[in-house]
Amino acid sequence: MKIRVLGAAAGGGFPQWNCNHPNSRRARSRDPRAVPRTQSSISVSSDGVRWFLFNASPDLRQQINDSEVLHPTQGLRHSPIQGVVLTNADVDHVTGLLTLRESQAFNLYATTRVLAVLGANSIFNVLNPDFVQRLPIKLEESFELLGPEGYASGLMVKPFSVPGKVALWLEDATKGPNFGSVEEDTIALEVSWRNSRQRIFYIPGCAEMTATLAARIRGADLVFFDGTLWVDDEMIRDGVGVKTGKRMGHMSVSGPDGTMAALGSLGIRRKIFIHINTTNPILLDDSAERKSVNDAGWEVAFDGMQIALP
Ligand code: MLT
Ligand code: MN
Repeated sequence: MKIRVLGAAAGGGFPQWNCNHPNSRRARSRDPRAVPRTQSSISVSSDGVRWFLFNASPDLRQQINDSEVLHPTQGLRHSPIQGVVLTNADVDHVTGLLTLRESQAFNLYATTRVLAVLGANSIFNVLNPDFVQRLPIKLEESFELLGPEGYASGLMVKPFSVPGKVALWLEDATKGPNFGSVEEDTIALEVSWRNSRQRIFYIPGCAEMTATLAARIRGADLVFFDGTLWVDDEMIRDGVGVKTGKRMGHMSVSGPDGTMAALGSLGIRRKIFIHINTTNPILLDDSAERKSVNDAGWEVAFDGMQIALP
């Protein structure tokens, strides 16, 4: 099983286009300790040849160009990308689908809820339905990642709900608490594969650590986890926004109810932050916050990061 991080930053990327925060300025000035990152997505493969994307970021075109394994190799029209699995309908997770225009076969997996969002927006018809199958996935039901022409990857994915909310652009305050969000709005993915007892998790957005979630990921071989903010009021404190992390559906990295504390004692072999906001000091190689996550056994994902698991 192979993983390649295509993008490690949260929505907007690092640096975000209109952001003049000191972090973004450092990234923009090509400071070697503030390495730019595109918006969050990983690709997974069992053979290193055929790949599945977990989420499709607006930076997907650049991510493909930067990843040789995703380049066409056969004939005049070809892609190693066999499918895409969506964890929600966030802009940073679905708009890359528009890059995958238009008559290239692949399978698109998402919950019924997220497929309905795509179905309601005709711009996604750029994915020719004769070539792109939209396949509903069900919470807690494992499925095998399949390619469009009968390719069976041997990679098993179990989608499950995590605390969160509907995508920002779908928020509707009239729909009640948490904008009427339902379980299928924010999911995470557990991946296992043939002839291996390893389990890995992809959790790019999570609002809270529950006992159920902690029990599920305990003892995992690898967890990619929501690293959006260092502290809940970071964007307010730094004067770049008005929302807390909680309001955006993200738990923070630090603090007594933060991610480091919550995952510290779960016996997870490898823990990696992904979906990291441009304001988060863990993006800076020389920050005290980076040192403290590293000291706690965490890695900070970067574009092009490669992982191979037996
Ligand atoms: C999020 O992860 O909170 C969203 O991507 C927010 C956004 O779209 O900016
Ligand atoms: Mn996001």
